[in-house]
Amino acid sequence: MGLRGQRIVVVGGTSGIGLAVAGAAAREGADVVVASRRRESVDAALKQLPEGAEGLTLDATDEDEVRAFFERVGAFDHLVYTAGESLLMESLAESDLARSKRFLDTRLWGAYSAVKHGAPFIREGGSVVLTTGSAGRRPRPGTTVAASLCGAMESLTRALALELAPIRVNVVSPGVVRTDLWRALSEKDRGGLFESTAAALPVGRVGAPEDVAEAYLYLMRGGYSTGSVVDVDGGGLLV
Ligand SMILES: NC(=O)c1ccc[n+]([C@@H]2O[C@H](COP(=O)([O-])OP(=O)(O)OC[C@H]3O[C@@H](n4cnc5c(N)ncnc54)[C@H](OP(=O)(O)O)[C@@H]3O)[C@@H](O)[C@H]2O)c1
Repeated sequence: MGLRGQRIVVVGGTSGIGLAVAGAAAREGADVVVASRRRESVDAALKQLPEGAEGLTLDATDEDEVRAFFERVGAFDHLVYTAGESLLMESLAESDLARSKRFLDTRLWGAYSAVKHGAPFIREGGSVVLTTGSAGRRPRPGTTVAASLCGAMESLTRALALELAPIRVNVVSPGVVRTDLWRALSEKDRGGLFESTAAALPVGRVGAPEDVAEAYLYLMRGGYSTGSVVDVDGGGLLV
């Protein structure tokens, strides 16, 4: 099944992985709607996407905004959720519980709220593709919050796959991908992280957003995957 004529909503679709998903889907003939918090990122994304793409502002952490967003968007086929920010990396001893809880707002509760309010508008044959990361199954010291988040996303995906059936619900688990997500690091630290990650990975490089976007497209097209976690991590789980 191709995506031609399908309507796809990408929350977090104005940058990085989400923008690559929207671009690849639109080039395949899908009608895409991208959404994120900042008007300037929405406008910049629309300049990069094929003509006909729609863009709206949305803060996925605000449930009232999420409800109103889906009422405005109306019927569609696939929901992709890639909204997120850089990983919170700190030791348990240094952690601040309020900050740790806030870290789950966008990636876990934002996704939860988007699925809750978006699912009633998904047409027959449609699906949801969420985003996690390898920290849940391959934690390192300093990743307690990230690992908790990623584990929760995988469990949420499986529970939703049953609760929302026949809507299919899957999750993509990217490894390190070269996107704006890493902008909080200095150029030197970012370069160092990409270089050391590439050297450690079996594929010898970090990912590009387009590498990972393919997995979202596959999960939207395919009618037989639900409750699945698809790793696109250059072999990161093995090393
Ligand atoms: N890049 C990696 O190495 C990597 C690895 C594993 C997992 N991931 C996960 O993959 C997802 C996509 O990451 P990326 O690398 O593509 O990051 P990115 O380039 O920074 O894109 C994140 C997107 O999320 C939007 N966003 C952030 N907070 C939002 C909110 N509250 N409501 C709506 N939109 C929001 C941002 O736009 P605005 O600023 O306009 O809101 C932006 O469009 C994230 O969940 C990330 O944690 C990334």
